[in-house]
Amino acid sequence: MAPQRKKLFIKTYGCQMNVYDSERMRDVLAPLGYEPIDAPDDADLVILNTCHIREKAAEKVYSELGRLRPHKDAKADSNRPMTIAVAGCVGQAEGAEIMKRAPVVDLVVGPQTYHKLPELIAQTHRARGERLETEFEPVAKFDALAGDRAVEGHSAFLTVQEGCDKFCTFCVVPYTRGAEWSRPVDQIVAEARILASKGVREITLLGQNVNAYHGEAPAGREADGAWGLGRLLRHLALIGGLDRIRYTTSHPRDMDDELIAAHGDLECLMPYLHLPVQSGSDKILKAMNRQHSFEEYARVIEKVRSVRPDIAISGDFIVGFPGETDVDFEATLQGVREINYASAFSFKYSRRPGTPGAAMPLQIDEAVASERLQTLQSLLVEQQTGFNRTQIGKRLPVLFEKAGRIDGQLHGRSPYLQSLHCDAPSHLVGQIADVVITDATRNSLTGRLVEKADAA
Ligand code: SAH
Ligand code: SF4
Ligand code: F3S
Repeated sequence: MAPQRKKLFIKTYGCQMNVYDSERMRDVLAPLGYEPIDAPDDADLVILNTCHIREKAAEKVYSELGRLRPHKDAKADSNRPMTIAVAGCVGQAEGAEIMKRAPVVDLVVGPQTYHKLPELIAQTHRARGERLETEFEPVAKFDALAGDRAVEGHSAFLTVQEGCDKFCTFCVVPYTRGAEWSRPVDQIVAEARILASKGVREITLLGQNVNAYHGEAPAGREADGAWGLGRLLRHLALIGGLDRIRYTTSHPRDMDDELIAAHGDLECLMPYLHLPVQSGSDKILKAMNRQHSFEEYARVIEKVRSVRPDIAISGDFIVGFPGETDVDFEATLQGVREINYASAFSFKYSRRPGTPGAAMPLQIDEAVASERLQTLQSLLVEQQTGFNRTQIGKRLPVLFEKAGRIDGQLHGRSPYLQSLHCDAPSHLVGQIADVVITDATRNSLTGRLVEKADAA
């Protein structure tokens, strides 16, 4: 008997790994009759998939819970009461605290336990005396997720690695996502094949430290020992239909030679590398426990550029880490000038409870940090705009993803992950076609279609 249809609303905060997790939560809940909707008001189940990385991110969940309360209250006496779940990294970090601070929450799951959602929801309903439609045994997350994947569009995320053992002194991830763990190669290949069979042409392999990947070799190749990311990429490149592969986020210390070589050898590996450095000052890098100098970082970039000269380099920066002086900040600006970024994310240091950085002396004044952030961001914007403008006049293969904002236009991505709009017929969605770039701004490119869809 088909389960009764119910409405599911998931709100996702934070990084791409949360985006992936939200998709998988939908997959896990689909057999129970849950169908995604776009607004929480009338939902049977609301899941907030949360992020703990900065204070602002973590606080957002509490404001959202406040907004949900009247909706939940309004449905309380109906035959379809609302269940509210907090998932993700705030769930992991604050656990039972959330239910105390926000009694509107019915259940909390962490990033490694959301495969248990059906069971936890069942328990919640049982506690309310509701009839249960189904239950299932909790098993390890990715085993539980081995089934089908609902796919929207032509570009998909695929988590290959979880957690982090690096313990940068500012960061909560090792506490919220746990120890570094890699999925076995066969499991990843199986998921990638499902995606390809459903029309996905681009996959982005995800991990908090995706290039620390060391997964169990495929069946029959056990003698190889664990495979690194470079090897995994070569293997995935053989899957028909997957024209584009990306990966994120990487740590400079894990850029090994095999991975760097892949950037020169694999046509489907897109020329874009997100490699955060956080600071240009060796003193600050040391205090952050990044375990590399700026010079070592620059050398990695140089090596990647030597095999793939056009590669777009992206990064993350933190300003105002404890002890950061004007001289340290100047070193960051100098480092940015040296690398010349195609894009970057930059943040003011946020003091996270329980991390070593929070207890360090010489915390930086908010106003100083804000000013530094502004200075850094203007430089990064200048570089990003400059990079985008270097594409003008070039012919680039674009993967069209969806309709654009203006009628008759499509939105797509260049190999360098730039957003692009151009006039194109709607049947090109999901196709890769050549576009001559006619204009560029800070955030996007515009162009003229020069070729019909590829034969594939
Ligand atoms: N694993 C990745 C980063 C994951 S977190 C890496 O090692 O690079 C994503 C980004 O958030 C980080 O690169 C960092 O720039 C930023 N970030 C993490 N913790 C932060 C904090 N406490 N305050 C401000 N920014 C932070
Ligand atoms: Fe956080 Fe550092 Fe791990 Fe990245 S490498 S997730 S910044 S602890
Ligand atoms: Fe945030 Fe957790 Fe990702 S803290 S950045 S959602 S790993």
